[in-house]
Amino acid sequence: MSRLEGYHRAVSVMDRRGRPMRDLRISVTDRCNFRCTYCMPREVFGTGFRFLPREELLTFEEIARLARLFLDAGVDKLRLTGGEPLLRRDLERLVAMLAPLPGLADLALTTNGSLLADKAQALADAGLRRITVSLDSLDDAVFARLNDVAFPVARVLAGIAAAERAGLAPIKINMVVRRGVNESSVLPMARFFRAKGHVLRFIEYMDVGHSNGWCPDEVVPAEEVLATIEAEMPLEPIDRVRPGEVAERWRYRDGGGEIGIIASVTRPFCATCTRARLTAEGQLYTCLFGITGHDLRAPLRAGATDAQMAERLDTIWSMRADRYSELRTLATRGSSRELPRVEMSHIGG
Ligand SMILES: C[S@@+](CC[C@H](N)C(=O)[O-])C[C@H]1O[C@@H](n2cnc3c(N)ncnc32)[C@H](O)[C@@H]1O
Ligand code: SF4
Repeated sequence: MSRLEGYHRAVSVMDRRGRPMRDLRISVTDRCNFRCTYCMPREVFGTGFRFLPREELLTFEEIARLARLFLDAGVDKLRLTGGEPLLRRDLERLVAMLAPLPGLADLALTTNGSLLADKAQALADAGLRRITVSLDSLDDAVFARLNDVAFPVARVLAGIAAAERAGLAPIKINMVVRRGVNESSVLPMARFFRAKGHVLRFIEYMDVGHSNGWCPDEVVPAEEVLATIEAEMPLEPIDRVRPGEVAERWRYRDGGGEIGIIASVTRPFCATCTRARLTAEGQLYTCLFGITGHDLRAPLRAGATDAQMAERLDTIWSMRADRYSELRTLATRGSSRELPRVEMSHIGG
């Protein structure tokens, strides 16, 4: 039995800004069957793009071991992501390995929903608790302009319905709002998911990575999204579920459910950020806008003990000082493109 097995420390080391480590997002693949223009534009992620070869990916056993060490270091929430996580074969096997880990309070998955109709029940049976599905419009033509593979809305909705039947509740829907492309979808999406009882979260289009040609004019500020909805369906703010939660919560005044707002461009939340991110090949990033990762796979494969790995996690977190979004705001309210960053599809959002 390892030094740490069966023991959950519950208190994380603090980083240099006094923030604990609470959430871990685990990317299980850098591949995706969509080419969302804001994430994996076709010009960059085309046929010549070199995705990670299989042997470079962490195995499920390696991911589960790292997850146990992260839980031991203070994390209590895990989210599987990608690329598109459901492209990773037998993902439910990983879910079944993670679900019983001591100290785990929440196990979730973010997906584009394309393969969800077939997978939802197996994921729920394996112990997945919640799911977030990304969908940027209910209009096929608008959605196609965003996913760039002409993927039909109806198939994502079928995935959401399957998740509902499998009991993966509450279901959250992520919508990135891009100026000139899908602002007109804000109200139809709000009406539709309010009636379904799912939590629709509006995400400001972010300058993640270097591929999407981001420009501040394309960001639809959270304020504008809120005003659009408020004009038809009055809203009031409610408290975040837990500290470090990125989404602001608003509920419909008539009791018809709630929405979320993720305003990382216009209202950065670096001060309370408790998230760590693990890429599919085992690089640990302490910020979504990270410049370099910390390699966890090399020591893992070189035979490091749990105690050595735990010490490495503590050291990396205690050195953390990231506050990219705040600095972007301080700089030019937008243009910070000179800073190198990791791609969203690589780090998992
Ligand atoms: C990188 S994806 C990975 C999981 C899965 N493929 C999906 O789309 O849900 C995670 C989330 O990041 C969001 N995202 C990707 N690029 C973004 C950008 N430039 N700005 C804001 N959100 C972005 C996606 O919409 C999605 O909700
Ligand atoms: S946002 Fe998700 S679905 Fe879209 S390209 Fe990125 S990883 Fe794929």
